[in-house]
Amino acid sequence: MIYMDNAATTKITDSVLREMMPYLTDYYGNASSIYSLGQKSRAAIENSRIKIANILNVKPSEIYFTSSGSESDNWAIKETIKKGEVNHIISSKIEHPAVLNSLKYLQNKGHKIDLLDVDEYGFVNLDELREKITENTNLVSVMYANNEIGTIEPIDEIAKICSEKGVLFHTDAVQAFGNLKVDLSNKNIDMCSMSGHKIGAPKGIGLLYIKDGTKINSFINGGSQERDKRASTENVASIVGLAKAIEDVYNDLDKNREYTTNLRDYTLDKLLNIDGVVLNGPRENRLPGNINISIKNMKPQTLVQYLDMFDIFVSQGSACAAGSIEPSYVLSAIGRNSDLSLSTIRISLNSSNTKEECDFVVEKIKDAVNKFSIR
Ligand SMILES: Cc1ncc(COP(=O)(O)O)c(C=O)c1O
Repeated sequence: MIYMDNAATTKITDSVLREMMPYLTDYYGNASSIYSLGQKSRAAIENSRIKIANILNVKPSEIYFTSSGSESDNWAIKETIKKGEVNHIISSKIEHPAVLNSLKYLQNKGHKIDLLDVDEYGFVNLDELREKITENTNLVSVMYANNEIGTIEPIDEIAKICSEKGVLFHTDAVQAFGNLKVDLSNKNIDMCSMSGHKIGAPKGIGLLYIKDGTKINSFINGGSQERDKRASTENVASIVGLAKAIEDVYNDLDKNREYTTNLRDYTLDKLLNIDGVVLNGPRENRLPGNINISIKNMKPQTLVQYLDMFDIFVSQGSACAAGSIEPSYVLSAIGRNSDLSLSTIRISLNSSNTKEECDFVVEKIKDAVNKFSIR
């Protein structure tokens, strides 16, 4: 099997699974129980929180465990609204649906939403951001890196602008985490979302970093878990797995980033030699493993299914848009016409992929273009 859809999800790593196993078997106590079996779970959660906080250069009290990146995005956006006022929120046109649909929800409730344009590579314009911020703006949310075309946004600059203007800043770092050194010691970032299943932890675990002092309401009402902000019995094994995954990816971050970037560039250069292939997104400031190409006159469904016959797994556009016959809104935002947008695949590599796999995949894509292009 050749798995090249790591932006959609990743395999749980052996070390993460090993770390989780005791909490899936013997240590199943509820972390709120006062007897020792429960306290074993409590300790595992709090040690995981400390481990993650140390890696990210923040305080343990600033880490809140959630069920996913989507939940973290929903929480950051919906619960920082000032009650009884019309809020103004700025975001970008290429955010993940977890952000865009949270914003739509607020818009339907009467709040004012501005979505920044992006240039042909997917970068937001800092001048436009400066102009759009008014005294009524209470939140800016811009993703750290885009899930479809891999664009890494100028997050430090955006965060600085927001801080200077006294506006809260949230970033969705679901794709950046584990691929880039997301370091939250930059105190201009107020909230940051991440998700475990993109970095070798299981599906259904994420976190929201909330800088101390940020005014945010609780998201799930119920018990007093997560310091009264996010009720529900903690997912101990997944929290332990998330901490291990973060530890592992940060230990090897530089090495893996270099390896994956080189593999991406090697593969991309070969793909761009195929007739009709164009790159979407930038060459520089791009997620290490992200390749997003359009192939003129090629139906991506046909290509994805052809590759599947060889046990090769790549994505048609982004996972969330897969199956949809609408052109991707991200590709429309960077100015791709709908013909090209509808001929797009995303290959997302990580450090488990090899050069031999890439060579094989490029050969199969070439075969598919020769066999199935509509001329
Ligand atoms: C940029 C981005 N944000 C949010 C999410 C949602 O994360 P989750 O699958 O954990 O809900 C994804 C998942 O693809 C993503 O790529």
